[in-house]
Amino acid sequence: MIKAVYSGSFDPPTLGHLDIIRRAAPMFEQLVVCIGVNPKKQTLFSVQDRLDLLRQATSEFGNVDVDSCAGLLVDYCRSIGAGVIVRGLRSCSDFDYESQMALVNRALDSGIETVFLLADPAKSFISSSAVREMALFGRDVSQFVPDCVVHAMKSVH
Ligand code: COA
Repeated sequence: MIKAVYSGSFDPPTLGHLDIIRRAAPMFEQLVVCIGVNPKKQTLFSVQDRLDLLRQATSEFGNVDVDSCAGLLVDYCRSIGAGVIVRGLRSCSDFDYESQMALVNRALDSGIETVFLLADPAKSFISSSAVREMALFGRDVSQFVPDCVVHAMKSVH
């Protein structure tokens, strides 16, 4: 049985991310949803807020844990004994970027494989930045994000 890490910024988590988590969780003994902390990236939600939101959104899954990491993703995977990185692919442009990141990660640590899941077409147009922009201009985002995120977005705008 293999432990896997589903990494991302999750600013905020969307139903697209939840779809990937729902489908990836049964494939592994444990799935760790890990917020990659990039100090150069300005975010709407703090790391602590995103940890709380992801914990609420994934509470129904028995083998899903939530964590954050500040260094290289492969180092984090090694530190927790994970052999797989899970990423969602929404489009061909995602593939270009994701394949490059997967190759860098493989060059850094050939013992860790990246596995891609194709996003549900009904959710493949959702992105965290689109959700942030809709919420900024007062639009209802409840069809794109879990309920806990709807409430959190209301409290920051
Ligand atoms: N559903 C909805 N949205 C999705 C999605 C899905 N299934 N899959 C990806 N997205 C969206 C995200 O919402 C995000 O949208 P935004 O740009 O509008 O905010 C976008 O795709 C990018 O995804 P994200 O998960 O935030 O990726 P990222 O490119 O910021 O990468 C890490 C985050 C943590 C994986 C990456 O920075 C990392 O590995 N950092 C560690 C440093 C490291 O190891 N570097 C070496 C590797 S190159």
